[in-house]
Amino acid sequence: MKASNPVIPLFDLDYGPDEEEAVLRVLRGKWLTMGEEIAAFEQEFAGYCGVKHALAVSSGTTALHLANVVAGVQQGSEVICPALTFAATANAIIYSGGTPVFADITSPDDWTISPEDIARKITQDTKAVTIMHYGGFACQMDEIMKIARSHKIAVIEDAAHAPGSTYREKKLGAIGDISCFSFFSNKNISTGEGGMICTNNDEYAEQIKSVRSHGMTSGTVDRHRGHAFSYDITALGYNYRLDEIHAALGRVQLRKLDAGNKYRRLAALRYKRGLKKISEIKLPFADRHTEANYHFFPVLLHDSIDRRDLMTYLRGLGIQTSIHYPPVHNFTFHRQHFKTPYLPLTESIAAHELTLPMYAGIKDEQIDYIVETLLAYFQNI
Ligand SMILES: Cc1ncc(COP(=O)(O)O)c(C=O)c1O
Repeated sequence: MKASNPVIPLFDLDYGPDEEEAVLRVLRGKWLTMGEEIAAFEQEFAGYCGVKHALAVSSGTTALHLANVVAGVQQGSEVICPALTFAATANAIIYSGGTPVFADITSPDDWTISPEDIARKITQDTKAVTIMHYGGFACQMDEIMKIARSHKIAVIEDAAHAPGSTYREKKLGAIGDISCFSFFSNKNISTGEGGMICTNNDEYAEQIKSVRSHGMTSGTVDRHRGHAFSYDITALGYNYRLDEIHAALGRVQLRKLDAGNKYRRLAALRYKRGLKKISEIKLPFADRHTEANYHFFPVLLHDSIDRRDLMTYLRGLGIQTSIHYPPVHNFTFHRQHFKTPYLPLTESIAAHELTLPMYAGIKDEQIDYIVETLLAYFQNI
């Protein structure tokens, strides 16, 4: 295997002739935005998740921004969120004028936001809590919903990692007040860029439809078809629309989602069997196998392991790895603008986490090779 050439990538797209056909269908139809593909994708996604409304937007980040807007987050609002997440979870709060209040994770086995820490951090300014289903593993939604209901605060699910994962037989993204999905290239549904907002709340849905397109009272299709001659602007809106090509890709990817997630679960089982032999590696979320979509495959290295050295070694042997995540509260920008809390569990997991390759299509031989390469490393240190 050639050195420094990533032979086993962290993620690989599951694209084929159906995606090609979907793009061509849009090009041939000559209608590029907010048309039939978007309407169909929204309907199919809502049906899949079991929610009343699904609204397509340009990214997971814009979905989160609009979720904060409709939840009423504004200057002076606090929103509790995890720090062990991608920056967008917290930044979307800041776009709306709110302050992210970072909460710790639950335990060394459950890296999702701690319900106890949420409860501890609620103040009279708390407007919402944004939870994030880390790696597609569900947060403790029963406890979180109970706390949120008793304090009358909204629950925003950052479900960027979570399409197809379940919690007590409900799809993630169908439990909170509003949920946000990402279709970025490396997600379980990949369209390049793209996102979806789900909600059962009719008022939220109406507001989102309006503000994702400049707050306008009529859409492009209405005007094109002669259903509307002009429009009014009734709220400060944005251009957060998705286009037809991405929606067409999303529809194909949605059809493949369950099979892809099943493939990932089998791949995870193979990893688990192999990694048992390595005492320096622990696997989180031990009891969540059947409910998870394995968006990625995180492992925890023993404190004594030099992660950078291990990553360099793996890269040299053709295995790409990553870290999920450098915690948001420690970034320069966030330290400069917000209180830096003490989050001992988050800090300790973030310092020792390693993400191994995972995607629908990863081969058994590739997983075996990764396990053997790790085994060789640990036998030689
Ligand atoms: C947890 C989480 N939230 C939000 C986002 C933002 O999604 P997008 O890249 O589609 O804006 C991402 C994606 O990368 C993510 O991993």
